[in-house]
Amino acid sequence: LAILGLTGVVLRLLVVVIRGMAAPAPICSLLGQPALPLLSAEGDINIGAVFPLHRNALFKVHSFTSRPEKTPCISINQREFQFAQTLIFALEEINNSSDLLPGLSLGYQVYDSCSYAPLAIHSALALMNSPGPEDSLGNPSSCSRSPAVLGIVGESSSTSTIGISSLVGPFNIPVISHFATCACLSNKKKFPSFFRTIPSDFYQSRALAKLVKHFGWNWVGVVNSNNDYGNNGMATFVEAAWHEGVCVEYQESIHRTDPREKLLDVVKVIRRATARVVVLFMGLGDIIPLMNEMALEGDPGLQWVGSESWITARLLAENKAYGFLRGAVGFAIRNARLDGLEGFLDKVHPSQAPDNTLLREFWETVFQCSFEGGSSTLCTGTESLAKLKNQYTDMSELRIPNKVYTAVYAIAHALHNLLTDLKNDTDSGKRPIRQNINNISCESFHSLCLSLRYLKEVRFRVKTGEEIWFDDNGDVVACYDLVNWQQEEDGTLQFHVVGLYDSSMPPEQRITFNKGKLAPASVCSASCPTGTRKAVQKGKPVCCYDCVPYSNGCYRCDLEYWSNEKRDLCVLKPVEFLSYEEMMGIVLVFFSLLGSGVTTLVAVVFSIHKDTPIVRANNSELSFLLLFFLTLCFLCSLTFIGRPSEWSCSLRHTAFGITFVLCMSCVLGKTIVVLMAFRATLPASNIMKWFGPPQQRLSVLAFTLIQVLICVLWLTVSPPFPYKNMKTYKEKVILECDVGSAIGFWAVLGYIGLLALLCFVLAFLARKLPDNFNEAKFITFSMLIFCAVWITFIPAYVSSPGKFTVAVEIFAILASSFGLLFCIFAPKCFIILLRPEQNTKKHMMGKTSNDTRY
Ligand SMILES: *[C@@H]1O[C@H](CO)[C@@H](O)[C@H](O)[C@H]1NC(C)=O
Ligand SMILES: *[C@@H]1O[C@H](CO)[C@@H](O)[C@H](O)[C@H]1NC(C)=O
Ligand SMILES: *[C@@H]1O[C@H](CO)[C@@H](O)[C@H](O)[C@H]1NC(C)=O
Ligand SMILES: *[C@@H]1O[C@H](CO)[C@@H](O)[C@H](O)[C@H]1NC(C)=O
Repeated sequence: LAILGLTGVVLRLLVVVIRGMAAPAPICSLLGQPALPLLSAEGDINIGAVFPLHRNALFKVHSFTSRPEKTPCISINQREFQFAQTLIFALEEINNSSDLLPGLSLGYQVYDSCSYAPLAIHSALALMNSPGPEDSLGNPSSCSRSPAVLGIVGESSSTSTIGISSLVGPFNIPVISHFATCACLSNKKKFPSFFRTIPSDFYQSRALAKLVKHFGWNWVGVVNSNNDYGNNGMATFVEAAWHEGVCVEYQESIHRTDPREKLLDVVKVIRRATARVVVLFMGLGDIIPLMNEMALEGDPGLQWVGSESWITARLLAENKAYGFLRGAVGFAIRNARLDGLEGFLDKVHPSQAPDNTLLREFWETVFQCSFEGGSSTLCTGTESLAKLKNQYTDMSELRIPNKVYTAVYAIAHALHNLLTDLKNDTDSGKRPIRQNINNISCESFHSLCLSLRYLKEVRFRVKTGEEIWFDDNGDVVACYDLVNWQQEEDGTLQFHVVGLYDSSMPPEQRITFNKGKLAPASVCSASCPTGTRKAVQKGKPVCCYDCVPYSNGCYRCDLEYWSNEKRDLCVLKPVEFLSYEEMMGIVLVFFSLLGSGVTTLVAVVFSIHKDTPIVRANNSELSFLLLFFLTLCFLCSLTFIGRPSEWSCSLRHTAFGITFVLCMSCVLGKTIVVLMAFRATLPASNIMKWFGPPQQRLSVLAFTLIQVLICVLWLTVSPPFPYKNMKTYKEKVILECDVGSAIGFWAVLGYIGLLALLCFVLAFLARKLPDNFNEAKFITFSMLIFCAVWITFIPAYVSSPGKFTVAVEIFAILASSFGLLFCIFAPKCFIILLRPEQNTKKHMMGKTSNDTRY
């Protein structure tokens, strides 16, 4: 009991200790340096933004024993600074507007990523966690507050945007980029809260591929930035290019941080390649080092095709050293005018916020002076931004600033719709809302409803007249200007808009061209250098080949290919089969038609003289049947001519087998009748009772049925099929019918042979019968011919190659059919037409015969 009591006390103590350890509320404190916005203003509603306001971050090697210091950034980027100011301009405009978000003041927090993805992510973290109240040391003491911003505009590079979107996506904070074009960002599974006001590279790559194809440049090289933008852009372009039948000779990727040797290697590849068109999917930062190396060796005389990130960069066009870029073409984001922006940018001055280091840095960089104590007395020369000509004041290229402007408006419109709906709901009592809508603070409605849904549904018209909405991927309709760099008289390069791309149009009408000069053409069939030969790339357009050195020794073409006359290229082997167009085919068709024509003629003659003794005496019904089947025999040879297909292969052997058995069984019927008539001791009437017309028909049917069964078995078990024979000849492919089952084939032939043999034997027995006109003689003769033809056919069939196999088979069919026709019917026709005096009953019976027995 004591032990139990002790254990209880210990346990209780333990519980108290554990409770005591867990009891205090967790203190959330920021361990690192807080990231602070470079530009900010507090409003009722705040919007975040991340821009690479500096070109480079200076890394310090951390000791990992102390807190890492803040990464300093150098070299202010005036273009990005202009983007940031455009964002503020747009916010101010909305702030002033009485239609959009009336009564609400807007604030902003602009962070700098220093063109460095980790810093961009750091900024996004700061935007998500607005710092709480500061402790005695000036550090934020809690992180429990809701996000500081309702949406984030940015970033300019695809890589940083991927980082930011992956981070804030799970928290449903919308990210709207003005410049991240990577097609990979359209993946809504990975980036559920991502939107962009700039078109995806998906459209640009397709447009570029179409453009390259349009100019007939089906042989190009590709160089891309080795980052998310360049690698994805190149991949989508190469895919689109294959679809257009454009070949890519080389794909190179470089990054500005690569060693110089790498750059030189790429320059070498570009210069040595046969392709005279180079597609550059590169960011401005990567293209400049490459162009510097290119310029050192003089004008390479190439056609440049550019992606939107550099095709409107004045920095490149205005540099005399890059004169070789003349003629460059590419798709640029459409230009726009933003009224009032120029005046706004002009007013930016450090005195607006004397403590702001960014403004001061900007001012000092632009004017090359130091700014002290709120005055700029030390600056020399002009002090007005408007009089300077630089990237910041350039109002002729507001393509990207317009996208920043649009992004801000998209967020504002979405919020406006959200608040309108909330207000309507509150007014109609649908949803109780604690605060008055005009007194709504960020925290209060953030958790209520998320602006994401409203952003997905937003549809509005910006001042420039463009209608903006986002598709399911968060992308906008892609509209591009086709830009061409043309050299002016003073030697400078100017951008000329020579066409348009609009992804909302049907595929064929997406690109339209104004009048514009065409650049030099690059043809795919540039010959291989000496010592190399062309090797066609399998499954690629005909013009795509690799140049392979001969030193590899002789090269074997694939089975279906054959080397050309110069023996430097593998070409498709010609396919051979017996066609209707060639001489042999025509001759065989002629004889086949002739045969069926003659047979029909004989039938006509017989039917005209059907009442004469010779026709009657020879069992007219079987004769007419035989003539009809013979016609079919002649015609069935036609199925052997023409391109073998699955259908014709099956048809040709079965049709032949069945028609021939029909003929044979008719002949057999005739023979049996003759034999019975003379050998039987029965009276004629009895014979006709035992083997009259119904029985004759039945026997024909029964004999044929056996052949039909053989054919059905053959077709179901292993039917004939077209087959590309590449073994018999090296230089051509023979398209022939494989019989499928050899047993089936020989069974069909063998059955015909069997019937023929039976006929022959029976007719041979009957040949000596007393009669002036003994049909058995002729049947014997015809069977002799028939058997001779088919016996000679077998060795010829087995040994003749290619289409001659088929020709031999047709020849055998025609020869045996003609044999039957002439042997059986020619003598009768001769008597009917030329010796009508012999066509009498008396003559038929002859001297020895007393009676017509049949
Ligand atoms: C918006 O207007 C309010 C006053 O109405 C002002 O405090 C705030 O700074 C303005 N915001 C911007 C972005 O101009
Ligand atoms: C907003 O209004 C203020 C004062 O009314 C004005 O000075 C400012 O230029 C306006 N801003 C914009 C962007 O229209
Ligand atoms: C909200 O109310 C206004 C009028 O108060 C009306 O014009 C608007 O259509 C309503 N919107 C919705 C979504 O109900
Ligand atoms: C806004 O709400 C606060 C309390 O949350 C209140 O003190 C203030 O008077 C309200 N302002 C207006 C304009 O309704």
